[in-house]
Amino acid sequence: MSTYLLPDQNDCHHGASINAQNDIQSDEQHMINNLLATLPKAKAWRSEHIFLYKGFWLSSEVIKGLLLIHKHFTPQPTDIFLAAFMKCGTTWLKALMFAIANRHRYKLSDHPLLRTGPQSAFPFIDTHIFLDYPATNFDNLPVPRLFATHFAHGLLPTSITSTCKFVYVCRDPKDALVSKWHFLSKLRSKELPPLPFDEAYELFCNGVSEYGPFWDHVLGYWKPSQYEDMKKEPSVELKKLAAFMGMPFTAEEEKEGVVEEIVKLCSFENLSSLEVNKGGGGGQKFTAKVVVENQEFFRKGEVGDWKNHLTEEMKDRIDNITNDKLKGSGLTLGLTK
Ligand code: A3P
Repeated sequence: MSTYLLPDQNDCHHGASINAQNDIQSDEQHMINNLLATLPKAKAWRSEHIFLYKGFWLSSEVIKGLLLIHKHFTPQPTDIFLAAFMKCGTTWLKALMFAIANRHRYKLSDHPLLRTGPQSAFPFIDTHIFLDYPATNFDNLPVPRLFATHFAHGLLPTSITSTCKFVYVCRDPKDALVSKWHFLSKLRSKELPPLPFDEAYELFCNGVSEYGPFWDHVLGYWKPSQYEDMKKEPSVELKKLAAFMGMPFTAEEEKEGVVEEIVKLCSFENLSSLEVNKGGGGGQKFTAKVVVENQEFFRKGEVGDWKNHLTEEMKDRIDNITNDKLKGSGLTLGLTK
């Protein structure tokens, strides 16, 4: 039986170098190097540089992934993509979407998410595309195939964006900034000096961070799910999500409490307390060298932690940028609290 779960994502440790024979062919690498040499670059949060590619700041690794997606990925009309700017709820939505799609295959009381954590639930395509290059096991995934991405809508091939469903989750940019700074500071190369929060703040406001600018990213997608709404009314949002995925809960399932059980299974409290998500050997392999332990994806899981990092003045500046950029879109993010 085919499975979503990606065994090679487990038993990894941060910083460990995996013996993956995933080198891309030299002519493709050559093409990528030539492209990188022509792109504007800026200070990155995790590594040394990020590059401005078609309006978005990307690491060299994900630019490679993007080019390979364009060249090699064949979408199926039934594919469902989870898209998000970094640190806006990918882990949570991964768990929820996996649980929805597989609720007839696994018992919720003995669910694979409890053993593997959400990262292994389905592929993060931005880098997975080259992890087992040139062959991918995507063809073996059950239908509907689920994929996660941080790429902005406009960067993905139209063959994907015009064919597949997209679930997009976003969040108050102030919380995304704080979460991202904590996350990438931990992953930041030890050879580089730490990135102070004030500098990260300045870069973020100017749009300069991995996959940024935040606001252009949000505007590229249509009708986002909002982290804050999911926190407030998880069952309501879960039902909407399942319906959107084409797998609505039946009246009987609702009566049996399946919705609440999935909400509980995927809650921050439940997932973050599992052994596999507390340094118990589970991790997400992004590239052969960048492997992130599951525990790094669970920090506070709260709305409004920005209050512990931003002054009133810093808050007002981001809110004004958000207001300006999202004007007319019908979206408000973090402006009312
Ligand atoms: P904080 O750093 O604010 O705590 P992503 O999954 O996109 O990388 O986002 C990570 C953020 O989502 C982190 O936010 C993390 O704690 C939070 N998170 C992870 N799992 C969650 C869950 N099941 N429910 C709610 N928030 C979750």
